Amino acid sequence: MKKALVLAIALVLCLSTVSVFAAPPKVGMCIYKFDDTFMSYVRNQIETLAKGNLDLSTQDSQFDQPKQNDQIDQFLTQKVKALAINMVDPSAANVLIQKTAKKKVPLVLFNREPGDLDLAKYPNVYYVGAKAQESGTMEGQIVAKYWKAHPEADLNKDGKIQYVMLMGDPSNSDAKYRTQYSIEAVQAAGIQVEKLAEDTAMWDRPKAQEKMAAWLAAYAGKVEVVFANNDDMALGAIEALKAAGYFKGGKFMPVVGVDATPPALDALEQGTLLGTVLNDATGQGTATYELAASLASGKGAATKVAKLANKDGKADPKGHYVWVPYQMVTLDNYKQFKK
Ligand code: BGC
Ligand code: CA
Repeated sequence: MKKALVLAIALVLCLSTVSVFAAPPKVGMCIYKFDDTFMSYVRNQIETLAKGNLDLSTQDSQFDQPKQNDQIDQFLTQKVKALAINMVDPSAANVLIQKTAKKKVPLVLFNREPGDLDLAKYPNVYYVGAKAQESGTMEGQIVAKYWKAHPEADLNKDGKIQYVMLMGDPSNSDAKYRTQYSIEAVQAAGIQVEKLAEDTAMWDRPKAQEKMAAWLAAYAGKVEVVFANNDDMALGAIEALKAAGYFKGGKFMPVVGVDATPPALDALEQGTLLGTVLNDATGQGTATYELAASLASGKGAATKVAKLANKDGKADPKGHYVWVPYQMVTLDNYKQFKK
């Protein structure tokens, strides 16, 4: 009798322990490539929040979409409860949606916006990102303000900005929109422009340094402004400019980027980077985590942090997008972004 009671109590204790410490839901994450500065901050934020709350496993897709598709197939076989995917090729969204819909696994895409798809048409598919147009406009506004305050920046005195543009991966809409909207913002401020050169450096610092060195040789003394689609490329350009004698003895070149990474904020402080735009890695990582965790535990997409909206950015509780705002960063306000 006594023995049976002890056993029964032990069993109850055991069961309650199991329910209190229920295993965290399995979630699979892919990053388009680990070797991307901005994505490493986003990933870090997601992994930090997931500790103890999700059984999260992360894969490096190594800039290879077929490889990423295989990784997703494996996650699906392992019966993950949700997927958080940073696509390699944004046009692959259709395939991913089909795969995950078949298994009824919620899919959170982030950072690389899916082609022309409107995700509202699919249940259980979401996108977390930032409106790239905004970041382009802010870059252009930083340059316009500088140009108006510094007449000496017009080296050949023709009233136009002779510029070079370092683009990110051209398959990525962030690259396309930042290139377009930065120049449009300069023009909207009443300033004429002349493009000397524009090419992709694939978001990459060493590639940008090489490109910039070549442009400085080809357009010696002619370049008046350097636009870069992200900070890594802006920093690469600054390296090339330093090697060509800039940033000493009063020789300056306005260079702008996007992301506000810690090394970019250092460059701003040192006076080599003119300005950048905060691409909120912490905010995007948090929203991605919140959505994935909530969906994985069957609680739906509405969370306190991730504000749902439609594709155009309008708040919508039934929306499938979370837009994290950009912020302009210059010498006037950079300190608040330093960690
Ligand atoms: C960032 C880049 C990054 C890219 C990766 C962009 O939003 O600004 O720094 O390389 O995302 O997709
Ligand atoms: Ca000029």
